[in-house]
Amino acid sequence: MAKILKFPKNFLWGSATSSHQVEGNNIYNDWWQAEQTGKIKYKSGRACDHYNQYEQDFDLIKKLNQNAYRFSIEWSRIEPREGVFNQKEIEHYRKVLLALRQRNIKVMLTLHHFTTPLWLAKKGGWSSPKIVFYFSRFAEKVFKEYQDLVDFWITINEPVLYASMSFWEGKWPPKKKNPILLMRAIKNQIAVHKKIYQALHKVKPDVRVGVAKNIICFEPFFSKSPLDKLSVFLISYFRERYFLNKIKNHQDFIGLNYYSRLKILFPFFGIQGSEATTDIGWEIYPKGIYHVLNTLRKYQKPIYITENGLADAQDKLRKDFIKNHLFWIYKAIKEGVDVRGYFHWSLMDNFEWADGFKPRFGLVEIDYNTMKRKIRPSAYYYAKVCKYSAIEI
Ligand code: FCB
Repeated sequence: MAKILKFPKNFLWGSATSSHQVEGNNIYNDWWQAEQTGKIKYKSGRACDHYNQYEQDFDLIKKLNQNAYRFSIEWSRIEPREGVFNQKEIEHYRKVLLALRQRNIKVMLTLHHFTTPLWLAKKGGWSSPKIVFYFSRFAEKVFKEYQDLVDFWITINEPVLYASMSFWEGKWPPKKKNPILLMRAIKNQIAVHKKIYQALHKVKPDVRVGVAKNIICFEPFFSKSPLDKLSVFLISYFRERYFLNKIKNHQDFIGLNYYSRLKILFPFFGIQGSEATTDIGWEIYPKGIYHVLNTLRKYQKPIYITENGLADAQDKLRKDFIKNHLFWIYKAIKEGVDVRGYFHWSLMDNFEWADGFKPRFGLVEIDYNTMKRKIRPSAYYYAKVCKYSAIEI
């Protein structure tokens, strides 16, 4: 007999995107520059043309019964030159937010999702303490403009991962491999997050501010090896707990981006587990979200799953992926973890950073030649989940 598992009242059901990945023509940021100069292999170009087609895309969200949308505002559009705020772009995002309001879709707005205005990147970007001033000025400006149209504010998307890809692994702009810059970037992220948290709360005490934290389910490669266990402890301290502990009194909720599991072999070798993988080789491990949620209990904050999804061009695995992750989220909720929403990554196929357009993460398929949108079968499955706020197992 099938069982219906019902999610809590007022649960948010949505999907997520970010400006550079979907809008197209974000010509004033550091990624665009790196793409044009060949430092990044692929070019985002028109991306999904979401900048122009957002109304149609929001109609799709509605059609798919989602009641929430997470997206990011492109800083380099609002402030293309230092201290110069572009009124036309401010108006653009107002229209975007109003279009969501008209459709009764709750808004989670990200202020920084991997892209930085070029003028600021040239001053050292996140590795320079100057960013604390500039980013909080931008955040306060945006808040002043849109405070009544936004339900949740995310300051920084995946802070530690972003800092390490940019300043330690050297894969993303500015492609540095320097541990000192990495530590500085994380320090600046913590400082500016706190500053923004305080500034926004001063104006509106009941505002909801958080970060979207990428957390991998780390496990020791040999479950009994003390050395592998030590490595897991250290790696998850540095990647997850350090940041969350630092901001624990400066967040109203925790945003969790969960994708996969990694087994750690001493000292720091990350090895994929043995379950099926997605098109880009990430292991599918739904139970991991349950483990991770349990580690977040101690912060005693509401949790939103701000990203969870997979690259699956054939749409063969997505339906079960969603269902199985929701099953483990449900179990965590039943056991007392306060999860209040789920945003699937992503609403549509998009520009997957240094991997270009090949990985297909969308509930909606994009034909990049015609910019036509096509709803994938798994999106209809998810629409049913959203409609009844339940899964059937
Ligand atoms: C996350 C990013 C998001 C997307 C997914 C696949 O790390 O936040 O922009 O690239 O991975």
